[in-house]
Amino acid sequence: MSTFKAPKGTYDLLPPRSATFLAVREAISTPLRNSGYGYVETPGFEDVKLFSRGVGESTDIVSKEMYTLTTKGGEELALRPEGTASVLRAALQGNLHKLGNLPVKLWYSGSYYRYERAQAGRYRHFSQVGAEAIGAEDPALDAELIILADQAYRSLGLRNFRILLNSLGDKECRPVYREALQDFLRGLDLDEDTLRRAEINPLRVLDDKRESVQKQLVGAPLLRDYLCDACKAYHEEVRALVSAAGVVFEDDDKLVRGLDYYTRTTFEFVHDGLGSQSAVGGGGRYDGLSEMIGGPALPSVGWALGVDRTVLALEAEGVELDLPTATSVFAVAIGEEARRTLFGKVTELRRAGIAADFSFGGKGLKGSMKDANRSGARLAVVAGERDLAEGVVQLKDMETGEQRAVALDDLLDAVRAELA
Ligand code: HAM
Repeated sequence: MSTFKAPKGTYDLLPPRSATFLAVREAISTPLRNSGYGYVETPGFEDVKLFSRGVGESTDIVSKEMYTLTTKGGEELALRPEGTASVLRAALQGNLHKLGNLPVKLWYSGSYYRYERAQAGRYRHFSQVGAEAIGAEDPALDAELIILADQAYRSLGLRNFRILLNSLGDKECRPVYREALQDFLRGLDLDEDTLRRAEINPLRVLDDKRESVQKQLVGAPLLRDYLCDACKAYHEEVRALVSAAGVVFEDDDKLVRGLDYYTRTTFEFVHDGLGSQSAVGGGGRYDGLSEMIGGPALPSVGWALGVDRTVLALEAEGVELDLPTATSVFAVAIGEEARRTLFGKVTELRRAGIAADFSFGGKGLKGSMKDANRSGARLAVVAGERDLAEGVVQLKDMETGEQRAVALDDLLDAVRAELA
């Protein structure tokens, strides 16, 4: 081991487990790429104000968890704690919303940073795949996103996840509810911190996990009873469309989410095998965010799924992804001349698109055959001086152990035929 370790709250992705991460990213993005979402990539850091304005000054993410820095040039930057504000900023900056095709549908995959208390499933550096549909107010768009996330999880073989759905109202009805809730909270026996939160962000108090708080929340006014007619109708349409697709969800009045930009539809995907960090993904509508960051009115909706937690969920369910082994052919050479010849053959196979590897390090036959076994390759190509003198190599089926001589010049065709 070296003197250094990965920083607290981070971990390295190493083979073979790293292959599962790649497969999860692929599985989540496939349904998006199939549904008109284009790929977007934004910088790992942004102007700190993008997040304080967008995600919200009062959220934990901004007030406690942001990695901020001042550059030598005096710019105040933050490592991105989430993707939505950045993606919307990029779409606005690139004028995608003016090209005439709304909604602008984008997907992304990357690293995010939050200075959180590190524990299983909660990291300071983590990975999300996300989707944002910008510039349309249409319940079918909210439904599309929920259905696509469900499809992604199911394609991975996940079963024990649940979808929680709520509506947070809009700028008409939410303030009325907020006030009613505040009145109610002021009458409770709460500690100072919680009372302060009740003043700044009362909806977050509903999310308090402590029994002593939850007990007192029985009888709290419910947002459901305050939704305006437009929000109610919108939400009913989202629910109907998701149900019609055969996707099961649970209505959850208490789902508030930890970011301030949400309006109307909000949802979370939770997995029951993950203990306290059970949210594998989440999202919702953010109709006011564009204006909050200086853009035009662009009602939008999106989600982000946590790659780390999705992998943990797969492990909790014991799902083994069917990952094809990386290497199809492994070459084992005995002696200098054979090494040179087989190395050339490996290059030829690779150029023909066949995944091939070579026994490096000048090992003997036994050590090299061990490498071949470990690689998981279906075929081994073995050659020594005597084979080469005859112009052949030995092609060995690693499953059956059967072996036959193949002329050097016919190797590519023979390998192709075996792998077909
Ligand atoms: P979020 O709920 O903060 O939403 O994060 C989405 C997912 O990222 C979580 O459900 C979780 O799986 C994963 N995640 C978050 N923090 C951590 C962490 N510290 N360690 C491991 N995984 C984590 C957002 O980020 C919104 N931008 C989603 C969205 C997109 N809303 C609209 N569009």
